[in-house]
Amino acid sequence: MENRGAFKSKFGVLAAMAGSAVGLGNLWRFPYLVGTNGGAAFIIIYLVIVLTICIPIMYSEFIIGRRSGANAFGAMRILAPGSKWTIIGVLSVLASFTILAFYSVVGGWTLDYLARALTFKFSNLSQEELGALFNSIVTSNMEPIIFMLVFILVTVLVVIAGIEKGIEKYTKIMMPALFIMVLIIAIRSVTLPGAGDGIRFLFKPDFSQVTGKTMLDALGQAFFSLSLGMGCILTYGSYVKKSENIVQMSFLTSISDSMFALIAGLAIMPAVFAFGIQPSEGPGLVFVVLPHIFEQITFGSILAILFFFALFIAAITSSISMFEVLVAYLKEEFKLSRKKASFIIMGIVCFFGILCSLSEGTLGNIKILGLNIFDMFDKLSANILLPLGGLLIVVYVGWRLPRADFNDEITSGGILKLGKRFISLSYYIIKYVTPLVIGVVMLKGLV
Ligand code: PHE
Repeated sequence: MENRGAFKSKFGVLAAMAGSAVGLGNLWRFPYLVGTNGGAAFIIIYLVIVLTICIPIMYSEFIIGRRSGANAFGAMRILAPGSKWTIIGVLSVLASFTILAFYSVVGGWTLDYLARALTFKFSNLSQEELGALFNSIVTSNMEPIIFMLVFILVTVLVVIAGIEKGIEKYTKIMMPALFIMVLIIAIRSVTLPGAGDGIRFLFKPDFSQVTGKTMLDALGQAFFSLSLGMGCILTYGSYVKKSENIVQMSFLTSISDSMFALIAGLAIMPAVFAFGIQPSEGPGLVFVVLPHIFEQITFGSILAILFFFALFIAAITSSISMFEVLVAYLKEEFKLSRKKASFIIMGIVCFFGILCSLSEGTLGNIKILGLNIFDMFDKLSANILLPLGGLLIVVYVGWRLPRADFNDEITSGGILKLGKRFISLSYYIIKYVTPLVIGVVMLKGLV
């Protein structure tokens, strides 16, 4: 059997975790959900969910992965032989394919914008022209599909290169670079004339408008942004050494991911108001607003190139982590080589990706529950599959995994001196609080 590979250093694990977490979820999905869900109240609910329930869920996933040393499906076969818990693996595989399909489309848009930035195609366009440009790109048949295919191909090439050579190498440099660029854009955005309304929108909560849907969108976005509930952290966890501190890693990943999202919000929303765009514009928001901000910055056209390149890398490191869930699964459960597994997955993702892309234009009249295929995949994965996966994971760790195993993993076999109270608190949050919150929010949001 092929060697499974492992992360060499702690920094390597963190870079890969942050690479998975930080991506289009922060820079594309978060701003548009903040816009459609009324701003500050959504952000506060989002942050509360991340801090109270997502971090414990993250280490639950780590625990399952590291304890079993296997893919999402195999993990449950090893830890709970002969039981129905392998459903966690089934959900992981389903969620990975669903997300990859529309994620690759947006990854393709990013590449398209990078190509345009390289040829200075959107300098000096008005706000209306930028809106029309985005529309014409995403609704056309060939162009977005070609860029999407390139996006998928690059992902596959890195995945085939394997764990340390591929994933660790690319994430280490690009993440910090992206962070600095988003910061520069945020500074420009908040100093635009008329930015004040955007800042108020981000920081002055109005809880009277909060509905079950707002809560579910916040929960789904938290799972999506932290790459939770679909076996991704579980699979990466299976490559992590026993001596690593998984609690610390979960905190660091979640906090840096949330910082990224907040700064992305600051980069986009003030500009949205300054330029007179509707915050509820939807998935095109970032692509319509950003090019206009670049026009307002000295050397903006250079920054645009650097930014879209870094965003592309951030998207790739996330899609790699989703691919890895599927590759590990096919490789271990069906004894395929890494290469063969990667190509099979690529074929399936291309097929569903093409459907998602076409649903923005030609296939736009196919609607399921009022949503086109793209939006349906987006909502189905983030608001249903991920929370459901997360729910099963915490129920397993809280109610089925022996308590001694939990303690052993969380303290790295007793090496780490975590306070007894902290361990118990974590355990009870996982056992009672997380399932309750997920259950109630899902019920309220869906009914
Ligand atoms: N967290 C990634 C992002 O924010 C997306 C992702 C979701 C990656 C689920 C892996 C698993 O872009």
